[in-house]
Amino acid sequence: MSMPVETLSSPMIAADRLSIVRCASCGETLDDLTARATCPSCGGLLAVEHTAPGHTGARLRALFDDRLGPAAYRGPAAGRSGVWRFREIVLSGARDEDIVSHPEGNTPLMTRDAVASFAGVSDLWLKHEGHNPSASFKDRGMTAALTQARRIGALAVACASTGNTSASLAAYAAQAGIPAFVLVPEGRVSAGKLAQTLAYGAHMIRLRGDFDDCLELAREASEKLGIYLVNSLNPFRVEGQKTIVLELLQQLGWESPDWISLPAGNLGNTAAFGKALREAHALGLIDRVPRILSVQAAGAAPFAAGFADDFATRRRVRAETAATAIRIGDPASWDRAVEAIRFTNGHVVSVSDAEIFAAKRVIDGCGVGCEPASAASVAGVRALVEKGVIGRGERVVSVLTGHLLKDPDAALATRAGGGLGSDTALSRDEALSHLGRVIASPQTK
Ligand code: F0G
Repeated sequence: MSMPVETLSSPMIAADRLSIVRCASCGETLDDLTARATCPSCGGLLAVEHTAPGHTGARLRALFDDRLGPAAYRGPAAGRSGVWRFREIVLSGARDEDIVSHPEGNTPLMTRDAVASFAGVSDLWLKHEGHNPSASFKDRGMTAALTQARRIGALAVACASTGNTSASLAAYAAQAGIPAFVLVPEGRVSAGKLAQTLAYGAHMIRLRGDFDDCLELAREASEKLGIYLVNSLNPFRVEGQKTIVLELLQQLGWESPDWISLPAGNLGNTAAFGKALREAHALGLIDRVPRILSVQAAGAAPFAAGFADDFATRRRVRAETAATAIRIGDPASWDRAVEAIRFTNGHVVSVSDAEIFAAKRVIDGCGVGCEPASAASVAGVRALVEKGVIGRGERVVSVLTGHLLKDPDAALATRAGGGLGSDTALSRDEALSHLGRVIASPQTK
């Protein structure tokens, strides 16, 4: 079945099974209707490979650009999705009736002088993925994963999470009508994310342990109980998350920036960005490959340590950072992320929690806002400008991965904009005189 948004000059690919799934370690190939999230032979990471779309270069760009038009609003939700707009290179075999879409994506690309001057570059763009339906970038991977869950007839879906994946999974599983199970580290998930996960109706298990323990258990449970695992090692999650890059390139008129920076934890997103850029380049959507900058929190930085010795060995650490979303010590998508950094001549850096929160204060204070982990992408740019790796005149896109309200406690603790809230409730007269004092104070002027 084709979408109503297709143009006659550029027909949509409609046949089923236009993709295969291949193990990156042993090369085993599987049908695209596989229920396996990892290789059944060797446990390695699987990757989706697509039949080349009918077009490349300007014609493929035109196909994707046409779908931004008003016709999108006359068809199914998938036609309005910033993920399914690129469906030929996400999951072309998915039929409209399989697609579980909110819709998602179509997130803004913003500029703010204060953030650019903090980072030290004149041409800084913020791709705000917190504007997705469950308020983080995870929705882009989750629409693809739940679509796949529906295609294979999954009876239940599960993930381990630091909070955002669980909120997104809960939302999309509710829409698909498939029971969802999430494993989260006890005491380390922010209030906003827990509230979403429970409100959307997922079964939540708080595990005594950290994210890495949760992921190990989720893998084992999915193996033993036949639950479909939708962590970012699931190859269909990667396909959806590629569209962050595709969409920002489209918003920039398919002109590549010099750098794309992002926070890195389990490395699913770094891997997805690398795959997106490799494919966009191979298909002639762009003629120059931007460099990926993955930014880790210093207390959870095995990948940054690996980068420092050219990834000679795979590292694991016991993770600790106040940026709880990226408190991960044993990233699952290590190999794919190494490939992404190598292919894009990218860079990996770690920044302290103090640097992350300094960036968050600036991002929050100009009315944009983000959760702590997201601010790492700007903190990392600042660090590399100071080291001379990023030039002050280069164009940088920093991806803000989650919304400020994901972690209200962190926002209140940092009081980013310097707003003066009165700590106790005031009477009417006290409130008026308080306002008078604030208006008259030199800080306000
Ligand atoms: N930013 C935010 C807001 C996140 O929630 C995550 C990951 C990342 C960045 C890092 O992305 O893992 O692909 O390198 N959150 C996962 C979760 C782990 O469970 O919500 P990554």
